[in-house]
Amino acid sequence: MAFQLNSVVPWGRNMEEYRLMFQLTDTDMEGKIASFGDGPASFNFEATQKKYSVTSFDLIYQFSKEELQQRIEEVRVTVMEQMKENQNHYVWKHIRSLEELENVRMSAMHLFLSDYEKGKEENRYIFHELPAKLPYEDDTFDIGLSSHFLLMYTMLGYEFHIEAMTEMLRVCKEIRIFPIVDLDANETNLIQKVIEHFKKDYNVEIRKTRYEFQKGDNKMLIISMKY
Ligand SMILES: C[S@@+](CC[C@H](N)C(=O)[O-])C[C@H]1O[C@@H](n2cnc3c(N)ncnc32)[C@H](O)[C@@H]1O
Repeated sequence: MAFQLNSVVPWGRNMEEYRLMFQLTDTDMEGKIASFGDGPASFNFEATQKKYSVTSFDLIYQFSKEELQQRIEEVRVTVMEQMKENQNHYVWKHIRSLEELENVRMSAMHLFLSDYEKGKEENRYIFHELPAKLPYEDDTFDIGLSSHFLLMYTMLGYEFHIEAMTEMLRVCKEIRIFPIVDLDANETNLIQKVIEHFKKDYNVEIRKTRYEFQKGDNKMLIISMKY
């Protein structure tokens, strides 16, 4: 069955959040970056403005700007209602209130929408569904990112995660995944098996980051080539 847009809740973060989540230094930003499950984040747009190289991949990039815009507006109220109900699960430090959260997320998604068609023409937003093979040579990218997608969507299963990360590690010299909690904010049950799988051939590290919005989600998984 074809993928339905109403099965996703588009919700996007900005470049400042990406830099904090993934501890992206100025040197990291100078490399070629791929971002998987990048959705309606403004990371690509803001990075491109600063002349950095970011390529975003997501299955929602098969839809038009108008379709994505409509879906973003549809889910906005529901997501904010859920955030209100669960506000005790969050750390209101970097983002201080529900209103600020809505503003930060909506501005990120509006920047994404304003850049979407140009970015598609420039091959910066690429329709791709993991774990399918990516149309790139080995080691094309220096860093591959996954924000709030892999390890969080545990229902996709262990095999999916191993296949997806293996393909990401084929085209990227290093991958960073944030956070390492599931949708209920518990440490993802996949983490130990994923570490066991990759540690034979790669350097695997869990690193604390400077970003914590959902309580306890302040760690990322880094998997990189052994030299
Ligand atoms: C919660 S959003 C995160 C968006 C963005 N990374 C951020 O943090 O702001 C998760 C994204 O993963 C995408 N996604 C889910 N399954 C996917 C798959 N198999 N391949 C590629 N993208 C996928 C969804 O379409 C959605 O845009």
